[in-house]
Amino acid sequence: MMLEALEISKEYKRGDRPFFAVDGVSLSIDKGEFICIVGRSGSGKTTLLNMLTGLLTPDSGKIAFDGVAYDRLGDDELSLLRNTRLGYIMQGRGVLRNFTVLQNTILPRALFKRAEDPEAKAISLLDRVGIRHLADQLPARLSGGELRRVSIARALLSTPDLLIADEPTGDLDEETAAEILSLFRSVAEEGTGVLMVTHDLDATSLADRTLVMQSGRLRERA
Ligand SMILES: Nc1ncnc2c1ncn2[C@@H]1O[C@H](COP(=O)(O)OP(=O)(O)OP(=O)(O)O)[C@@H](O)[C@H]1O
Ligand SMILES: [Mg+2]
Repeated sequence: MMLEALEISKEYKRGDRPFFAVDGVSLSIDKGEFICIVGRSGSGKTTLLNMLTGLLTPDSGKIAFDGVAYDRLGDDELSLLRNTRLGYIMQGRGVLRNFTVLQNTILPRALFKRAEDPEAKAISLLDRVGIRHLADQLPARLSGGELRRVSIARALLSTPDLLIADEPTGDLDEETAAEILSLFRSVAEEGTGVLMVTHDLDATSLADRTLVMQSGRLRERA
C-alpha cells in the first residue's frame, strides 16, 4: 500500500455552523493503480486531495505514505515528500508569472536538487502534453488549457510514485483531454499511482476504480 488514509475528517464553519467538508474518509492507493473520484461541486474533493498531499492537516484520522505517518513528519519532510515522490496538479494553475514555461516545469527540481539535468526531461514532457513550442514563453501569453498543461508536465517531472490531479482536463478541449488521459494511463502502466478528480466520463472508463464523493463521504461507484 503506497498511500493510505484512515478515517480522515476536516470540519469547516459556514457562518457559525460547523460542517464536515470531509467526513471519515478511508482510501488506499497502490503503485500503478488509476483511481478516479467524481462528485458534485462542494462535496469535499479538493479538501480531501489537500489532506492527501499534506498541504492540509486533518482534524482526525491518519494518513501514511509507504508506512510513514504524515503526523510524524515535519514541514520540511512533508514538503520534500510532496516535491519528490508526489506530483500534485492543483485545481488552481499555480504557475509563476515571471518564469518561462520551461523554467516553471523545472521548478520542483530547482528547489529540490537531484543530480541529473532536468531540462531534457522537461522538454520531452512538454512535448508529450503538446506545448513544446511554448517552452520559452511567459505564462501571461498562454491560454488556460496551455497553463494547465504546464502544471501537468511539472507534476510529472520528478517521475512521482503517485500523481494526484484535481480536474486536470477541466479546461481542455476533447481531443487534448483525451491525450492527457492516455498520458495518465501510460504513466500508471509505468508504475505511478494516479488519483484524479474528474467529471470526465472518458476518464472514469480508463480508471481501475471510480469513487464517488458526496457531502464529505467517499463510496465506491455502484
Ligand atoms: N477554507 C475553507 N473554509 C471554510 N469552508 C471551506 C474551506 N474550503 C472549502 N470549504 C467548503 O468545504 C466544502 C468542500 O469544498 P471543496 O473545495 O473540497 O469542494 P470540491 O468538491 O472540490 O468542489 P469543486 O468541484 O467545486 O471544486 C465546500 O462547501 C466549501 O465551501
Ligand atoms: Mg475542488
